[in-house]
Amino acid sequence: MKHKDAYTVAVLGATGAVGRRMVETLERRNFPVGELRALASPRSAGTRLAFRGAEVEVQAVSEAAFAGVDIALFSAGASTSLEWAPRAVRQGAVVIDNSSAYRMDPDVPLVVPEVNAQAALGHSGVIANPNCSTIQLMVALHPLRRFGLEHVSISTYQAVSGMGQTAVDALRQEIERGDGEPTVFPVVHQDRHVPMAWNVIPQCDVFVDAGYTKEEMKLVWESKKILDLPGLKVSPTAVRVPVLYGHAESVAVRFQRPVTPGQVREILQSAPGVVVMDDPSRAQYPYPRMAEGTGETFVGRIRQDLWDDHTVLMFIVADNLLKGAAYNAVQIAEVLVNPAQA
Ligand code: A2P
Repeated sequence: MKHKDAYTVAVLGATGAVGRRMVETLERRNFPVGELRALASPRSAGTRLAFRGAEVEVQAVSEAAFAGVDIALFSAGASTSLEWAPRAVRQGAVVIDNSSAYRMDPDVPLVVPEVNAQAALGHSGVIANPNCSTIQLMVALHPLRRFGLEHVSISTYQAVSGMGQTAVDALRQEIERGDGEPTVFPVVHQDRHVPMAWNVIPQCDVFVDAGYTKEEMKLVWESKKILDLPGLKVSPTAVRVPVLYGHAESVAVRFQRPVTPGQVREILQSAPGVVVMDDPSRAQYPYPRMAEGTGETFVGRIRQDLWDDHTVLMFIVADNLLKGAAYNAVQIAEVLVNPAQA
C-alpha cells in the first residue's frame, strides 16, 4: 500500500458489536485516519457515531461509499461481505474482512499479526480476519511450535457477543426478566430458541458434518491454515455460555516431545500479545471479566497432563470483540501501512 500521512478508512457494519469496536480501536490506536466512512444497512443511515471528539454520520453502504477508500474493515456478516468486498476492491480499497466469507479461500491471507503478519502483505485485495476463538488460540500456540505441535484438544466457553449486538441485548433481557424463558433470538437454530441466561449450550453456529458445528470446524480449518501445519490434529468442542464479553478456552496441547509447564510458561512470558497469569497460590488466572476491553491474550492454569508428559493443559482468555475481531483487524491495517513491522 502506498505510504500516506493519512488514510481514508471505511468500516462496514459500523453500528454492530464489532464495528463499533473497530471505530473505537482506530481511535485508541491513533491509526492515521484522514477520513472515516461509517457504513451499515439503510436502517442505520443518518445515525451518528463518535470518533475523535466529533460525530460521523452513518451512511447506507453503496458502491460510491467506497470511492477513494484505502482500507475497508468489514464486519457485517458473510453474505454482506460477499456482496460488497469485490466492489470495494474494484474501487481500489484493501478489505480486511471479519466474516467467514473468504477465510478458507487459498488466495486470501488469514492473518493473526503475532503469527503471520508477513502473509498480509501478499494479499490480492482481501485479507481475512480469523474466527474469534481461533485467534486467541493461535496467539498462545504459535510460540510453542518449537516443541512440535501434534494434537490440540479444545473446549471453548464463548460469550454471546460473538453472535452480535442483538444477542447481547437478548441475554440482558433474559436476565432482567428472570423467568427462564428464551428470548426470540435464534441462538441455536432459526426455529428453536434456547434460553441463554443461566445456561450452557453446546452449540455455536450450525451443525455441518459428522456431528460437529461450523464454529468447531473453523477451529480445525483455520488453525491449520494460519500455522501452515496441514497435519495438525484439532479436536474441538464449542460451547456458548451466558457471558457478555470474552471467550475462554480449556486447551490440552500434545507436543512431539516431552514438555514441562515451566518451559511453556517461560516461552509464553515473552511471547508477543500474551500475558501469563498463572499463580494458583494466589488464585491468579485469567477469566473473561478481567480480559474485557483489552487486546491481549491471557494464559493461565498451565499444568502437565496427569498421564502424558508430552501434553500440557492451559486456560486461554481474550476479549472476543477486540483481539478476537476488531483489534486484530486494526493490527492487520497497521501492518499494511507499516510493512516494516511485519
Ligand atoms: P445495521 O445496524 O444497519 O443493521 P452485529 O454483528 O452486532 O449484529 O452487527 C451487524 C452489522 O452489520 C451492523 O452494523 C449492521 O447494520 C450491518 N449489516 C447487516 N446487514 C447488512 C447489510 N445487508 N448491508 C450493510 N450492513 C449490514
